[in-house]
Amino acid sequence: MVEISRGLEDVLIKTTSLTFIDGHHGVLRYRGYDINDLVEHSSYEELIYLMLYGELPNRKQLNEVKAKLNENYEVPEQVINAIYSLPRNCDAIGIMESAFGIMASVYNPKWDKEKDRDNAIQIIAKTATVVANVFRAKEGLKPKMPSPSQSYAKSFLEASFDRKVGEKEIKAMDAALILYTDHEVPASTTAGLVASSTFSDMYSCIVAALAALKGPLHGGAAEEAFKQFVEIGSPDKVDEWFKINIVEGRKRLMGFGHRVYKTYDPRAKIFKKLAQQLSQENPEIKKYLEIAERLEKLGIETFGSKGIYPNTDFYSGIVFNGLGFPIYMYTALFALSRTLGWLAHFIEYVEEQHRLIRPRALYVGPEYKHYVPVDKR
Ligand code: SDX
Repeated sequence: MVEISRGLEDVLIKTTSLTFIDGHHGVLRYRGYDINDLVEHSSYEELIYLMLYGELPNRKQLNEVKAKLNENYEVPEQVINAIYSLPRNCDAIGIMESAFGIMASVYNPKWDKEKDRDNAIQIIAKTATVVANVFRAKEGLKPKMPSPSQSYAKSFLEASFDRKVGEKEIKAMDAALILYTDHEVPASTTAGLVASSTFSDMYSCIVAALAALKGPLHGGAAEEAFKQFVEIGSPDKVDEWFKINIVEGRKRLMGFGHRVYKTYDPRAKIFKKLAQQLSQENPEIKKYLEIAERLEKLGIETFGSKGIYPNTDFYSGIVFNGLGFPIYMYTALFALSRTLGWLAHFIEYVEEQHRLIRPRALYVGPEYKHYVPVDKR
């Protein structure tokens, strides 16, 4: 009997040397480096080099990555016009899809081993410009380009906000960028890989990935998880909310559960620590953190025995809120970081193991039927 693997569960679609996940022990490594070490010692710029070239950069290579980012924040004026001409209540990921669709048609880069990594770094720079301006347009602000700096996180934050950003905020944003960079082949990466397998251009592959990321079962959960904290409103209301909605209402606890992790997502542990650090000076997120911690306790008591624990999206929204971003930006901030992981997988697949992705479906429909004209039916 042919076995259909629903949701491609446990199906291996490629080899990778980019990202290692141990779903039972809660381990995540990029090119062999543990995310705890990278968040503590590294930077998103170092990670860009590591993911695209395979090793941590030396000082010269790191400076070259920073220079390439700083030289490529500009996007076509049609992208800015599109972002600011859409109604302010448009969905942030939908606007990103539009922006990347325009860049796909304007740039339309061909696959070329000599240029793929340079093109990827250009795209990562332009993604910061797009995401910052999606936020600004939806807030009714004017367009603003990231200014060159020694930190991608700083350039992005100062393009988003009309204020100086502090070292703590830059460090928290840089950590969030590292944490969301890659996760092997989730739905969004797989969608983009299918597009890359036809040799479609990198920008179009990202449009495919964005479309998959948007859903509430995937990247959309970053927003849905935080909406739970807002709906609950205060720490003393958590138990009642949980009983009515999750236990009796049998709703999914957003930010919990994972197809691969059957234990605590290691990224959630770090996001929780970042949220605790940011909450020390920010009473607003302190309240959300208390709600989340109580919800976590109830969630693990209820679902832990089934291997359902907090995932990366459970605490990330509190960090993004602490940085000044509204809920509608959380999935876009996820995408900002994940563009690096997506591109690294597309390049790895196209350059090292390319094969057009074309699965089959098991036909279970009717046998041959004679056509009957409409007036005889
Ligand atoms: C991300 O894949 C990745 O790597 C993604 C990601 C990345 O970095 O790219 O890690 C990012 O997308 C994290 C996941 C964010 N999504 C959510 O937080 C949404 C809520 N989570 C669930 O919908 C669910 O856990 C999934 C979608 C994440 C995974 O689901 P699976 O593997 O398809 O599991 P399933 O839906 O088959 O559930 C198995 C059982 C079911 O119970 P039974 O029907 O067998 O009784 O577990 C239950 C589910 O009801 N369950 C949950 C639950 N998640 C699973 N019950 C309550 N709350 C939940 N969150």
